[in-house]
Amino acid sequence: MSTDRKIIIAVDGYSSCGKSTFAKAIAARLGYIFIDTGAMYRAVTLHALDRGAIRSGVVDEEAVCRLLDCIDISFRYNPERGASDIYVDGGLAEGRIRSLEVSNCVSAVSAIAAVRAKLVAMQQEMGRRRGVVMDGRDIGTAVFPDAELKLFMTADPAVRARRRYDELRAKGQEVSLEEIERNVVERDRADTTRTVSPLRRADDAIVLDNSHMTVDEQMEWFMEKYRAAVGK
Ligand code: DC
Repeated sequence: MSTDRKIIIAVDGYSSCGKSTFAKAIAARLGYIFIDTGAMYRAVTLHALDRGAIRSGVVDEEAVCRLLDCIDISFRYNPERGASDIYVDGGLAEGRIRSLEVSNCVSAVSAIAAVRAKLVAMQQEMGRRRGVVMDGRDIGTAVFPDAELKLFMTADPAVRARRRYDELRAKGQEVSLEEIERNVVERDRADTTRTVSPLRRADDAIVLDNSHMTVDEQMEWFMEKYRAAVGK
């Protein structure tokens, strides 16, 4: 389904709520471009690791800032995945940005104001022609405060922990549910209390609590909001 009037759809919310999966499904349904902004923060972190601006887990903020002028981040559509892959300095980085090493350092890198300024400007440029679904923590508040449709995703922490636990177990990882529950609560605390762009629901965002909803039910819920937003 598509419409002549393309809009910006901001998908923000807590970690492990299925934001990316849902944002990707919305984009596929509407024929919109999906942009995973977390992948961009991960790409800067990877580049900083490769260039020695992070050593033994310690982020050298000045060195990261010096790298910002020459880093080249781009997305290319991958039909097999039905989504875009991220490239850093021309090389495919989709797999490497999800490594544990990057995951452990990305919070610190995403808290650097100059990193945020650079990536927010890139994200605003990508959305200039509308027709995008952007997934992140600050899209409806800092990147596109004028987005026509803003979703704020949440779910019961116990439900989110259970989903993450099932996901990791399916990948063969030995993890305990209690440990994951603690991690979910800690990430919520870190996301909402950081000084730079904390996770916050925009006043005009619509809350989607998907604790007890299937993906189909979420899509049905979303399409109603979408039709109202584009006026059809
Ligand atoms: O969604 P994710 O786990 O891939 O995000 C990676 C990190 O980037 C996470 O620590 C939060 C941060 N992030 C951010 O600060 N702002 C965004 N718009 C997206 C992600």
